Amino acid sequence: MTTERSQPFYVCPSDRAPLAVYAGSARCPVCGSSYPFQEGIALLDSVRRRDRQYFDESASGIRALTPEQRTAGERKATTLLGHAEIGQLHKATVLDLGCGFGDLTYGLASIGVLKDSDFYAVDHSVESLRVLSASVFPSNGNRVHLSTQDASALCFPENNFDLIVGSAILHHVLDYRSLLDTILRFLKPGGKAVFAEPFVYGYLLPSLMLAIAVDHLKLSPKDLERPEFGMCRFILEDVSLRIQHENDLSALDDLADKHLFRETGLMETASSVGFSRISFADYEPPEFYRGFMRHLMSISNITHSGLVSTAARSYDICQNMLGNKFPGLFSHFKYIVLLK
Ligand SMILES: C[S@@+](CC[C@H](N)C(=O)[O-])C[C@H]1O[C@@H](n2cnc3c(N)ncnc32)[C@H](O)[C@@H]1O
Ligand SMILES: [Zn+2]
Repeated sequence: MTTERSQPFYVCPSDRAPLAVYAGSARCPVCGSSYPFQEGIALLDSVRRRDRQYFDESASGIRALTPEQRTAGERKATTLLGHAEIGQLHKATVLDLGCGFGDLTYGLASIGVLKDSDFYAVDHSVESLRVLSASVFPSNGNRVHLSTQDASALCFPENNFDLIVGSAILHHVLDYRSLLDTILRFLKPGGKAVFAEPFVYGYLLPSLMLAIAVDHLKLSPKDLERPEFGMCRFILEDVSLRIQHENDLSALDDLADKHLFRETGLMETASSVGFSRISFADYEPPEFYRGFMRHLMSISNITHSGLVSTAARSYDICQNMLGNKFPGLFSHFKYIVLLK
């Protein structure tokens, strides 16, 4: 953790009055609420969504970012700043929303593009923030402030940030339109926001290939419960549910992963909220998708050789026919760059 940390600036989640921050806690002078700090993490989450426990569980037992995660964070930060067209930025205020273990915050604070800046790393999972807390050290005069907050009740003032970033967070937030509206208000004039999020076609195509292979091999729902089919059934049901209920938020509320975006939908939403420029960029180059179907099945523990080879062959046929002409059909993640 940075030794030269100045006090962070937060507002009260109830009345939005600036909090008075002392060594071990923050206090609202208006309503009198007190918010403790735990191991340097300000506990400001007033919503306490149930699904934060899922992220706490995946972080428990992890002590700090590994050298590989640090390198990945630096690479992510460099690419993201490139898409945001940010060369050098000094004395900036930056928010990493849904920072998780914080490899992106780590990367942004370390690579030397941003200096003498304040980074706010926010997540509703305190266990995830502990991983980051054990991983960031003073560099480039930057200060890193950690807090638990819910994305729907953020404790910052308006016109506050030069840059807001998020890696795989927007799709977890049910009312992402309202979050985009908040982000616009929290950005300074001319400020930028960059998110990396899952997009529908990159998941639709593999799940379609999986569904056709399941049908071809005459596998029943009961068969798919066997261990060699891993997450096959979950993928088929989950992608289908998220597509069918795209506009029915109440059906998505219980899912940890709620949305699969489309460029047209996000473009419409972000411009109706008031962003002046909105652009998209693929997260991975087209070559990445050459082996994507096998990769997806492998990380989903699908090992049944007939299913793997049938689904991978169909995906490769699509790739060979369409890959060069329709790269957007394969992208499972994209950057969204927003200008206030
Ligand atoms: C898929 S993880 C991504 C973590 C990290 N940004 C990364 O790229 O590795 C999503 C993160 O968003 C956080 N998150 C999900 N919903 C949230 C909410 N409503 N408020 C705050 N954080 C949330 C989770 O706790 C989790 O750490
Ligand atoms: Zn208050």
